[in-house]
Amino acid sequence: MSYHLGISAYYHDSAAALVADGYIIAAAQEERFTRKRHDPSFPAEAVKHCLDSAGISLDDLATVSYYEDPPKKFTRTLSSFASAGPSAIGTFGRIIPGWLREKRGATKTIDTELMNLGRGNAPQTRTGLHHRSHAASAFYPSPFDDAAVLCVDGVGEWHTTSIWHGQDTSLDLVNSISYPHSLGLLYSAFTYYCGFKVDSGEYKLMGLAPYGEPKYANIIRDNLIALRDDGSFSLNLEKFAFLQGERMTGDAFAELFGRPARQSESELTQMECDLAASVQVVTDEAVLGLARAAKKMTGSKNLCLAGGVALNCVSNGHIARSGVFSNIWIQPAAGDAGCALGAALLAMVEQDGQRSIIPKGQHDAMFGSYLGSSFEDWEIGNFLDSEGIRYERLTEDKLVEKVAEKLSESSIVGWFQGPMEFGPRSLGGRSILGDPRSQDMQKTMNLKIKFRESFRPFAPSVLEEDAHEYFDLTETSPYMLVVAPVTKDIRVADAPSRALGAINESRSTLPAITHVDFSARVQTVSDENNPRYYALLKAFKAKTGCPVLVNTSFNVRGEPIVRSPRDAYLCFMRTGLDVLVLGDFLVLKENQPELHEDTDWRTEIPLD
Ligand SMILES: [Fe+2]
Repeated sequence: MSYHLGISAYYHDSAAALVADGYIIAAAQEERFTRKRHDPSFPAEAVKHCLDSAGISLDDLATVSYYEDPPKKFTRTLSSFASAGPSAIGTFGRIIPGWLREKRGATKTIDTELMNLGRGNAPQTRTGLHHRSHAASAFYPSPFDDAAVLCVDGVGEWHTTSIWHGQDTSLDLVNSISYPHSLGLLYSAFTYYCGFKVDSGEYKLMGLAPYGEPKYANIIRDNLIALRDDGSFSLNLEKFAFLQGERMTGDAFAELFGRPARQSESELTQMECDLAASVQVVTDEAVLGLARAAKKMTGSKNLCLAGGVALNCVSNGHIARSGVFSNIWIQPAAGDAGCALGAALLAMVEQDGQRSIIPKGQHDAMFGSYLGSSFEDWEIGNFLDSEGIRYERLTEDKLVEKVAEKLSESSIVGWFQGPMEFGPRSLGGRSILGDPRSQDMQKTMNLKIKFRESFRPFAPSVLEEDAHEYFDLTETSPYMLVVAPVTKDIRVADAPSRALGAINESRSTLPAITHVDFSARVQTVSDENNPRYYALLKAFKAKTGCPVLVNTSFNVRGEPIVRSPRDAYLCFMRTGLDVLVLGDFLVLKENQPELHEDTDWRTEIPLD
């Protein structure tokens, strides 16, 4: 077989992916192994996972590909500092030594790190292009032979936005927008200004938007970004501070909105909600404009999306409902982790003339994105026995029956099954599940399980065949990347109440997953993609008449999603989870001895 390894590293969300002969074999993010969120270091453990999944050594690899071009990125960074002038000198002095040491010579560093793994000799690392890697990750595994491919993120080497035309194995750049004009950076500027962390708090801003009115949208359109009819845009750079250094916004931005940036962890006000709603509306307009441009330039009826902005499920929902394209496919690892996969797929196309093959019965080539670590039942059993954990081992029928019963009694369940997901979403491999009909579920899950802000919404998983009864979806959504309104049939309120104070008011018969504006970030589940999770949803429906569960990632705030049975057990014991399911094993909190730890885990996990 002809194996190709892809690597993304040294910025954030390091990852490795392995492909061979048309199939995606494995892919994982390093943070899951090292337990450091967004870990940017060399993905040693993720690479080992890839090699072990195929049972190969580094000697068996045909290529190793890095996801971007370090010298090009270095040139862009240097010229940014040069154009920013004297105000950037301090930042320049802090950042450049690290660049020279690690990032500019990334491929050499990777060659050395691979050698240090002691798994044989790898071929010399090749470089790619950041947006080309995104585009490949979106097009090659998609169900389409012909598609427009739209990549939107903060910045790669120079590109911040790119439109490609994918046809069979070819992938041609059609148009692009370059740094510093960036939708990702616009969104991150508001993330920063609203007191959240850049590169991780963007989800929070998106979750806050439905509580606000887009009062500031015109200020944004008039002062921060010019959106043109042809889909292109430019930022008014005088209003931002990211060119000068490490802050996203400064005095000019603060003046525009009449107050300084919110301090992180201080109380949220209606103003942050309104700012979030405003930048969301402008982002939706910009992304829709780009989608229209992509349609015009390629003439394709299919659209593929990747890049960090493609994780904005609200904008994705707008594109889906606009009807500009007949079909849309979004790479589940749309952020930079997915570039590792894109880099490997490009090498496979270039070396072997082979693009991804869709396995029989599957909709795309991603295997449901279940591409990470998995554990056999004997391994889980050994772990439970060695720790003296009390459990029951059940057949699948009995297991899903019992778990469905517990869920219907409002128990909250840690669900650990099969391979870990690749990408930021939990899709029923490493998930926390609850009953969406419960009035208190959102509050309980936010405060007692996730230890996070109470405004943050939860997402539903629904049986694919029943999805239309609950959600106005235009197509299936296996990767939870599209927001859709709940249907009128299940609404219990007339008009959305957007105030933050309305957080606990019921909007539908499924209050735990219905946002204040009646929206939900939906995952449709099929028997082909995840048979056991599908069986659980079926069992829950048989018991309650409801084919929907709350599905949130299996972690606490600030912690990467759990990877191993040990990670899962610790999260279970440290939080208000009632039930833990590891493979065939059912673990009940009430039967466990108290967990004794030497240190307080809360002090060890930094807030996100
Ligand atoms: Fe990117």
